[in-house]
Amino acid sequence: MRAGIESGAVRVLGVATGSSPLPLYRAIRAPRPQSIDDVEFFALDEYVGLPPGHPENYRVFLERELVHPLGLDPARLHVLDGGAADPDAECRGFEAALGAAGGVDLQILGIGSNGHIGFNEPGSSPTSRTRLTALAERTRADNARFFDTLGSVPTHCLTQGLGTILEARRILLLASGPGKAEAVARAVQGPVDPAVPASYLRDHPDVTLLIDRDAAAMLTTEGAHR
Ligand code: F6R
Repeated sequence: MRAGIESGAVRVLGVATGSSPLPLYRAIRAPRPQSIDDVEFFALDEYVGLPPGHPENYRVFLERELVHPLGLDPARLHVLDGGAADPDAECRGFEAALGAAGGVDLQILGIGSNGHIGFNEPGSSPTSRTRLTALAERTRADNARFFDTLGSVPTHCLTQGLGTILEARRILLLASGPGKAEAVARAVQGPVDPAVPASYLRDHPDVTLLIDRDAAAMLTTEGAHR
């Protein structure tokens, strides 16, 4: 990714939040790539209903991890506004900004324990676009570790759609730990279907998985389902 930023191949970077990309973001921060000032950042998703300065607000997260430490122009970070009065208009505006920037050169993804990417929960359509949607209860329970109580985890979010994500030119999916093993195995070797949104990545021509042994533990050597 650093090479892509330095060479100019990555001018639009799609960024995930959560714990998976933290080591990658640390690695980007030092040494600082000079050409990072030319990169536009588009976030995958945002919670609905958190106060603007809340530490788990994804704009706040990305400012903390990338914008402030790298001294970036905050105008180059595009994050859906989870407090927008008209969420549909907000999502349309986000898609328009993404299109105007030329589309995502490299999309960083994590994967939910239920196989979600972005906040496209099981059942999401592979052609879905950026939209307001509900978080799965499993996702709320997984993310409760970042909040004081399960009850304070938002119930809704704005997320890039699967169709939007799959338009990225290259995708890098990061997963670590045993909690991701089942989702990784189902995404890579199970059927391509809405029960495991990440399985649609198999329809994309340029996806790299960077996973540790624990997350790879349920992959078999018997070949993919198709
Ligand atoms: C975050 C996002 C989610 C996370 C996923 C994994 O922007 O879109 O899909 O990538 O829930 O989260 P972590 O990395 O915290 O396990």
